[in-house]
Amino acid sequence: MRERLRALGRRLLGERPLPLVDRLARGDARFSTFVCAAEYVNFEAVPGDVAEFGVFGGVSLALIAKALSFDPKGQQRKVVGFDSFEGLPASEEAHARWAPGDCAALHSAHPLAPTGSPVTPGLVRDLFARCGLPEPALEVGRFDATLPSAVPGRYPRLALVHVDCDLYESTRDVLEGIAPALQDGTLLLFDDWFHYKGRPDRGEARAFHEFLERHPEWGAAHYRSYATFCNAFIVHRR
Ligand SMILES: C[S@@+](CC[C@H](N)C(=O)[O-])C[C@H]1O[C@@H](n2cnc3c(N)ncnc32)[C@H](O)[C@@H]1O
Repeated sequence: MRERLRALGRRLLGERPLPLVDRLARGDARFSTFVCAAEYVNFEAVPGDVAEFGVFGGVSLALIAKALSFDPKGQQRKVVGFDSFEGLPASEEAHARWAPGDCAALHSAHPLAPTGSPVTPGLVRDLFARCGLPEPALEVGRFDATLPSAVPGRYPRLALVHVDCDLYESTRDVLEGIAPALQDGTLLLFDDWFHYKGRPDRGEARAFHEFLERHPEWGAAHYRSYATFCNAFIVHRR
């Protein structure tokens, strides 16, 4: 109803609706950090591509691609999304709200499909097309199945990584899988850092702390905390 009233108001005033990608950006508290992240990797000349782990309906991947599009250096980087499109796997850690299979179907508003629709790679490609963005690469399957052939083979170096897969085990698999592509300066964005009531021994935070213990060759500098649950680090070779 509110959207219809807005559209009517725009028609009366002769205004054009904002492009879809701009509307998505306005409604997502993470976008300003995606813009800073793109600027950071371009300014610091961190070599490599941009990967997201946990694509779901493609909104955050599209916003990251949009942020990269502002600079020709960003446009040269490949954008790749990894997801099983089967929803969350089981985890040894219970979370107050998540259950296995969550995210296999749309659970919140998506611009192209109603709530309850299955989440598919086609939906993500359609979203990119509707946003006027180049088609992203999608690696479809569980991270532990897709990463060994993708990294370092197709993606030998990663500059920016968006980890949005909620769970400890999934994040552990991501970090171990991308280790050969880490660079001095790779920026890691963790979407779910402060879930599990902010406990450092749960979820994405646990996986990253354990990764740093297992890999003393990598150190991490805090970059920023953003939106409701997110935290970001820049890794450096010791
Ligand atoms: C919260 S959603 C991602 C949301 C998306 N980044 C956004 O902001 O619109 C989490 C996604 O991670 C995926 N996922 C979680 N663990 C996975 C694993 N081990 N392998 C592959 N996909 C996984 C799920 O399928 C789900 O689509």
